[in-house]
Amino acid sequence: MSGRFAGRGVVVTGAARGIGRAIVDAFLAEGARVVAVDILPSVSDVPGVEPLVVDLSEPGAAAAAVARAAEVLGRIDVVVNNAAVMPDGPILDVTEEEWDRTFAVNVRAVFFASQAAGRHMAEHGGGAIVNVSSANAVRSESPEAPYNASKAAVIAITRSFAHELGHLGVRANCVAPGETLTPEEAAEMSAADRAAEREYVRRIPLRRLGRPAEQAAAVLFLASDEAAFVSGETLVVDGGELSGDWFDRSAAPPLPDRIAGLDP
Ligand SMILES: NC(=O)c1ccc[n+]([C@@H]2O[C@H](COP(=O)([O-])OP(=O)(O)OC[C@H]3O[C@@H](n4cnc5c(N)ncnc54)[C@H](O)[C@@H]3O)[C@@H](O)[C@H]2O)c1
Repeated sequence: MSGRFAGRGVVVTGAARGIGRAIVDAFLAEGARVVAVDILPSVSDVPGVEPLVVDLSEPGAAAAAVARAAEVLGRIDVVVNNAAVMPDGPILDVTEEEWDRTFAVNVRAVFFASQAAGRHMAEHGGGAIVNVSSANAVRSESPEAPYNASKAAVIAITRSFAHELGHLGVRANCVAPGETLTPEEAAEMSAADRAAEREYVRRIPLRRLGRPAEQAAAVLFLASDEAAFVSGETLVVDGGELSGDWFDRSAAPPLPDRIAGLDP
């Protein structure tokens, strides 16, 4: 098998759907062997993929998943921490249970999967960790306070791993997606959701939503040898949304008649 990741062992969490599934497909297309971790079993039919059904909110589950992946792959070259939960609700109503559940999956599992992978990679001459954060880490989206905080923590965790493990040949980087339309989300959208997404596009200079394959491309770049001297970095993939806002939004260029993914 040829490709940028030919023969390499890759672990992807949150791999059953959405951006995670696109990341799995992109690694497979570049020749990788992939262990796909998810609470859902839906990648069991994909050739080249070993599915691992795991609830990453359970204590110890992330490290155990990496240990199992090491048995399957022999050597882990890349770990992508992509799994996340995205609860929403007004900040004054957030409960400790919601906070804990969000941080169990979005933060604790990222840290301990990275720790287990870091130990393995240190023993095997290095590797790459890529964490999936969010544009919400740097610009709060409301009402999603625990999620926003969890995604900022992912960036801080990434920097710590990059800083402490660089001398062992381990790189750690982040992709921070902006609004990205997954096939599952598109299939579930009501007419009102579609109208809200259309309005959202006004904030995006490139005048469309992101595609899962575009997030996957950024993940693969950071995991690849092309990024061999990149570590501790966060790559925002948001169509320019965080680059600014209009003082007078009515002065913004109009939306196109048809927005891919939202209009027939
Ligand atoms: N789609 C977007 O617009 C967007 C924007 C910014 C950031 N992100 C980030 O991208 C990543 C993927 O998002 P998505 O839109 O594809 O979401 P999604 O909900 O479609 O996929 C998340 C995946 O994580 C899995 N998962 C959730 N809880 C789990 C658990 N306890 N154990 C194991 N697996 C679990 C789900 O089953 C699912 O397959 C997330 O980290 C998200 O925060 C997405």
